[in-house]
Amino acid sequence: MYSKDNPESIKTLFDNIAYSYDFINNVISFGLHNYIKADALNMLQQDNYNRIIDLCTGTGDIALRLTKKFPEAHILATDFSSRMLEITRYKIKGQYNIMAEKADVMALPYEHNTFDLCTVFFGLRNLPDIDKAIDGIYQVLKDDAELLIVDLVKPKLQPVEVYFGKCMPKIASVFTKDKEAYQYLADSRDTYPSHNDLMRLLQQHKFRVIKRKEYLFGLVSLNLVKKFVN
Ligand SMILES: C[S@@+](CC[C@H](N)C(=O)[O-])C[C@H]1O[C@@H](n2cnc3c(N)ncnc32)[C@H](O)[C@@H]1O
Repeated sequence: MYSKDNPESIKTLFDNIAYSYDFINNVISFGLHNYIKADALNMLQQDNYNRIIDLCTGTGDIALRLTKKFPEAHILATDFSSRMLEITRYKIKGQYNIMAEKADVMALPYEHNTFDLCTVFFGLRNLPDIDKAIDGIYQVLKDDAELLIVDLVKPKLQPVEVYFGKCMPKIASVFTKDKEAYQYLADSRDTYPSHNDLMRLLQQHKFRVIKRKEYLFGLVSLNLVKKFVN
């Protein structure tokens, strides 16, 4: 039913799980996603980004963390799911340095050389064409801007894979009406590059690697890169 090659189906999936997303995230990760997100954002290299874009923002968790970390920056939280954005807009009410808007990563509606930092947490692996997405991100970034990608991959340790690939979707299905959603989210790692392959792909797209890290025995991969212009 759900397929990366059918973006409308992915939009429906995220609309369906939007309202339970934060709660289920805490349950299935035992709250560890908070640690990973905080640690990942601590790796950023500057303290004076001006314009920041958070792609695939979901319920705005990363964007909100960015507002606290960089109160002087202008932060744009974007997603293509209307329901996810509803939640983000609710959460950011009253904050002066953040805006939420609809944008499809596959066709970013921004001028070239606009942003100093782009973050994509747990979003890239749902895209139909990662090469094309990285190209688009490269263009909207300024020279020397940073790109931080965090996503789920296939872990090296078998028990972790058994938990995430098999148990996690069953646990999540207790809390959502959409029983297939979390099995799809686990399986979507099958066609996503490994930790090292993503690094090579980013290098081919003229990004220079700054920092790399794996969490939870390789279940979560982090690549922090910089736009390199020769
Ligand atoms: C797993 S959630 C991650 C949310 C958030 N970044 C986090 O770390 O909790 C993935 C998000 O990516 C969004 N998404 C998937 N494909 C997209 C696309 N082509 N353009 C924009 N957003 C997309 C979904 O709507 C969903 O909100």
